Amino acid sequence: MLHVLDHPLITHKLTIMRDKNTGTKDFRELLYEISMLMAYEITRDLPLEDVEIETPICKTTGRMISGKKLAVVPILRAGLGMADGFLKIAPAAKVGHIGLYRDHETAKPVLYYYKMPEDISERLVIVTDPMLATGGSAADALTMLKKNGCKNIRLMCLVGAPEGAKLLEELHPDVDIYIAAMDDHLNERKYIVPGLGDAGDRIFGTL
Ligand code: PRP
Ligand code: URA
Repeated sequence: MLHVLDHPLITHKLTIMRDKNTGTKDFRELLYEISMLMAYEITRDLPLEDVEIETPICKTTGRMISGKKLAVVPILRAGLGMADGFLKIAPAAKVGHIGLYRDHETAKPVLYYYKMPEDISERLVIVTDPMLATGGSAADALTMLKKNGCKNIRLMCLVGAPEGAKLLEELHPDVDIYIAAMDDHLNERKYIVPGLGDAGDRIFGTL
């Protein structure tokens, strides 16, 4: 299922990120802030359990997060920019990494790194990648995680194209997608229109 998180704070910050005059420092900070806001929504349905505590006044029953532990899995490089914000909200989460780059000729993803925490299959996994263009990178990442035994996966993106959302709906209908904006289409180079350009280059200043 596709969840568009178009809260005014998120949409406002995303508009500044889209502006070509926004530099690396601001771009990275805004992505961090948006990721924290999105993490709040993505974790909204985590189960709680009763715990007994004592306040300075009396004994009472509080509620804390129970059940499955979290893992965040950025798709390198650009996904790193979203993982930091998520980890600020969920600092006990473990971190896996999937290195994929899009071949410039074919726009197909090429794998160069894969490293997961040992107990990844027992965790609720949040895959992060700001851009969902053709959907090829996200689809490959989700396939690898499922081969690794992961059953509970969510995808956190910033900007998507209908083409990418359609591919994931076909290949991974069980994975909920959380995204700040669905844009119009892909151009002839498979870049999102209007989009924000190359997310990795804008985060790391490699333009
Ligand atoms: C970008 C982006 C996604 C991918 C999206 O990565 O971060 O991973 O492209 O495109 P897709 O949906 O068509 O697969 P890129 O290949 O530019 O690598 P980078 O993050 O290292 O810059
Ligand atoms: N990757 C990006 O960084 N931007 C796009 O628009 C498409 C793929």
